[in-house]
Amino acid sequence: YLSTIPQGPPDAILGIAEAFKTCTDTRKVNVCVGAYRDSTGKPWILPSVRKAEERLLSDAAFNKEYAPIAGDPTYVNLALQFAYGKDANLSNIAGVQSLSGTGACRIGGHFLSKFVPKPAGLTKVPIYIPTPTWGNHIAIFQEAGMDVRRYRYYNSKTNRLDYDGLMEDLNNAPEGSVILLHACAHNPTGCDPTHEQWHSISELIHSKSHHVFFDSAYQGFASGDAEADAFALRYFVEQGHNIVLAQSFAKNFGLYGERTGTLSVVCSTPEEREAVLSQLKLIIRPMYSSPPVHGASIVKIVLSDDELTSEYYNNCEEMAHRIRAMREKLVEVLKEVGSTHDWSHVTEQIGMFAFTGMSSDMCDQLTSEYAIYLTRDGRISLAGLNDGNIEYVAKAIHAVTDG
Ligand code: LMR
Repeated sequence: YLSTIPQGPPDAILGIAEAFKTCTDTRKVNVCVGAYRDSTGKPWILPSVRKAEERLLSDAAFNKEYAPIAGDPTYVNLALQFAYGKDANLSNIAGVQSLSGTGACRIGGHFLSKFVPKPAGLTKVPIYIPTPTWGNHIAIFQEAGMDVRRYRYYNSKTNRLDYDGLMEDLNNAPEGSVILLHACAHNPTGCDPTHEQWHSISELIHSKSHHVFFDSAYQGFASGDAEADAFALRYFVEQGHNIVLAQSFAKNFGLYGERTGTLSVVCSTPEEREAVLSQLKLIIRPMYSSPPVHGASIVKIVLSDDELTSEYYNNCEEMAHRIRAMREKLVEVLKEVGSTHDWSHVTEQIGMFAFTGMSSDMCDQLTSEYAIYLTRDGRISLAGLNDGNIEYVAKAIHAVTDG
């Protein structure tokens, strides 16, 4: 049967990262994957993370035992406080450790697919995800057994949030649908609702009895302040939504390969929490038994030590700051090299990416003629830019957009 298996397509993001690795052009630039690079283009281990790791290695009590199915409970509680706030009522929140954000979305999708009542006439639970969104969302929730539908999020004519389209689509979704929201620094657009818009979205979702799934992959990258970036999800909890949250520590702790995150469900009572937790464990056990311990141990050490925590917040701010500087500089240099386009949307966006508005043909041209590797939706990972390559990239963008 193996000879009948067709070749699958490469991944829209990680496939391009693979192509970058094999490219031999000395000019090559990687602005594809959302992974932080320092000002010399190198991956960065946060100093607070490095210190936590050193402590871990010198801890005589550290061992390689299995974690419980739901992960390390101390880590989970600290991670939930990081997301929901120090004073969050954890006795009502069912949280499990996850394989970063992807794993959290997958467990969450499975859970919702199994337990959310299907709106009348539907055979699967509908989940509405924004257009555009992180490409992997579509496959994750389909594989989890959900009916993946879309809501308008971004207007590519104005290069801004399509707030009216969003409200209309959420209003037209069957009552009791699941709505996926990016908690902050929307990927790929870098365009978030304002606080007032979040208020109205929350109200609308309440009035339609929809369920909310937050994906929080960039806490700390939107404003540079991880507390401020938790605004939307904390507001929704305050407003009484029983949200489900996928939390990733890949970007904000630089723990990409460690696969460190949580999936949590905000319940209304401790009894509900117990029941939900038991069901999450039943989903996890046949999937991968229990999560990896290393990354969770690092986050636990950082977040349980005041000094390391404050150093961590500075490290996170430093990353956000460098990215913001690259965002502004890119627009500046584009003007300097002669671009007459309006790039103001790029300056207004937040987070790790510039959503440029370039067409897939322009992106292909950047890759084939200039060895600049980016996703074909016109998204640039600003972390891949530095003083050594920004002018080259700006000139190439100018050539393909004004040519
Ligand atoms: C991205 O959007 O580039 C990151 O979230 C990496 C990934 O897994 O796709």
